[in-house]
Amino acid sequence: MRALIAFVAALAVVAANAPVPTGKVICYYDSKSYVRESQARMLPLDLDPALSFCSHLVYGYSGVHPDTYKMVPLNENLDVDRSHANYRAITNFKSKYPGMKVLLSVGGDVDTEDPQKYNLLLESPQARTAFVNSGVLLAEQHGFDGIDLAWQFPKIKPKKIRSTWGSIWHGIKKTFATTPVDDKEPEHREGFTALVREMKQALSLKPNMQLAVTILPNVNASIYIDVPAIINHVDYVNLEAFDYYTPERNPKEADYTAPVYTPQNRNEHQNANAAVSYFLQAGAPSYKIVLGISTLARTWKLDSESEISGVPPIHTDGPGEAGPYTKIEGILSYPEVCAKLINPNHQKGMRPHLRKVTDPSKRFGTYAFRLPDDSGEGGLWVSYEDPDTAGQKAAFVKSKNLGGVSIVDLSMDDFRGLCTGDKYPILRAAKYRL
Ligand SMILES: *[C@@H]1O[C@H](CO)[C@@H](O)[C@H](O)[C@H]1NC(C)=O
Repeated sequence: MRALIAFVAALAVVAANAPVPTGKVICYYDSKSYVRESQARMLPLDLDPALSFCSHLVYGYSGVHPDTYKMVPLNENLDVDRSHANYRAITNFKSKYPGMKVLLSVGGDVDTEDPQKYNLLLESPQARTAFVNSGVLLAEQHGFDGIDLAWQFPKIKPKKIRSTWGSIWHGIKKTFATTPVDDKEPEHREGFTALVREMKQALSLKPNMQLAVTILPNVNASIYIDVPAIINHVDYVNLEAFDYYTPERNPKEADYTAPVYTPQNRNEHQNANAAVSYFLQAGAPSYKIVLGISTLARTWKLDSESEISGVPPIHTDGPGEAGPYTKIEGILSYPEVCAKLINPNHQKGMRPHLRKVTDPSKRFGTYAFRLPDDSGEGGLWVSYEDPDTAGQKAAFVKSKNLGGVSIVDLSMDDFRGLCTGDKYPILRAAKYRL
């Protein structure tokens, strides 16, 4: 008996001394990149130079069928049909990188058809069962090592920017109750806990299947995530602590999209440190927390009313113009930003380059801007992550003993090495500082 106790105690010591799983690098692959044009088009093969840096590769995204609540491919033709079969193309990388886990993510803010279904699913045990069973099957059939629930919870309302008249009106209006985003918050919180538990149970019947939860940008985790109830069921929680400001949510004012700490006079909840603190204070082991780093720059138009200092928060006039390759208003990929930071020979007829403003405190991030010309055109303000700030975030992760970082996503990093010749500079910088 005593020997047995000693043996069990020895096992406990071994368990306690087992290396905690830190240093994760969770690499997101956004399948939309497959259908972009020219330089922005990324094929599965282009992932190869990234993968030796990735502990996980996550396929974004699958969705929820609005009638059956089953987990389904969002683009059958691209994802699963024989012509492209990207699910398989992605999971096949495991033969070259056997240590890497490949997960299938669901939601991710790209499953936009009938958005209420994410709430309704949580309210119905039958819908949850349909989702869980179909999800496990889908993952298994295509060789995935697990599922990432990037759940599309209702988002917090963006800050309103008012004109002077508006603020007088607001003073009157304040007496009226504001409508809540979600009038069934407690029910959705409980439903999500149940979903995580049920998904874990189903996955644990299969060998080596992982379960992750991703908190999407502007989802208030303190409303929806019961940390003590879910944390033991998940391998990690990925906090997408970015896009606090975007040109869609905040067309009239630009600000740092992903600060590590609270800039002066800002909402103290909207930064990476606050997002992480909520989970730590609720009892999550630090090694289960992964901090998201966005490779996508947010851009706004500056106009003649914008403060000429460029210092945020700054008045803006909606999203900046689309990039030459990604072609989405208000968004630039990292290589599109870096091309705008240089204008060789100050060529005539070209817009002047953007002036980059770094943050010596390493707390808020980098931005770059260009004031409008005399006719009021061409003004641009960009908040973005570069290799330096990505490295700072990784250093923050390391200093807090967190589980690692996620790169969201690889297709918006400089996967061709157009900036300096190095492929995937943001991913590399983050990995290097972990
Ligand atoms: C999130 O919800 C909590 C209440 O659960 C609230 O105190 C907090 O202000 C909210 N955060 C944001 C950024 O709206």
